[in-house]
Amino acid sequence: MTQTTAADSPFLIDIKALRERARKHIQDGAVTGDYKADRETVLRLLNEALATELICVLRYRRHHFMAKGINAEPIAEEFMVHATEEQQHADKIAARIVQLGGEPNFNPEGLSMRSHSEYVEADGLVDMIKENLVAERIAIDSYLEMIRYIGDRDPTTRRVLEEILAVEEEHADELADMLPQATTQTQ
Ligand SMILES: [Fe+2]
Ligand SMILES: [Fe+2]
Repeated sequence: MTQTTAADSPFLIDIKALRERARKHIQDGAVTGDYKADRETVLRLLNEALATELICVLRYRRHHFMAKGINAEPIAEEFMVHATEEQQHADKIAARIVQLGGEPNFNPEGLSMRSHSEYVEADGLVDMIKENLVAERIAIDSYLEMIRYIGDRDPTTRRVLEEILAVEEEHADELADMLPQATTQTQ
């Protein structure tokens, strides 16, 4: 007699139950009964990430316009590239918040308190690069923590965060490369 193991039985989805579930609570949009994460916590984390990205947009734009000195131009341009990418991150996060049935918090009041990174004006090119690098490292750590927390309970949010994380790592890498160059130029 052959024994049936789990590996032999094909993976089957109960289509009838799946269809019935989908019909219930249709006002919940993309959030179904199979959503495994704690939605309120995910929404709070995403709104903190949104605030962080918006603060990064403001800081990079300030630095773009304030960067002065010999050879400041390519660095100022890079700050603007980063500002634009941080804005794209903010938009992706806001869109995911809405998909999850939440509301993106764009309220300027308390924005810097909700953000993980700080808005530091910085004095001179080297300080600007350092402050942006610190902010990127904060963003990297907080995205890693969020990704770890979400695990496999919300794959879509996880993927959004992983895509953003990869760009923050590039940003940090670029800033770290700029730093020694800018330091020798301003000495
Ligand atoms: Fe970002
Ligand atoms: Fe960044």
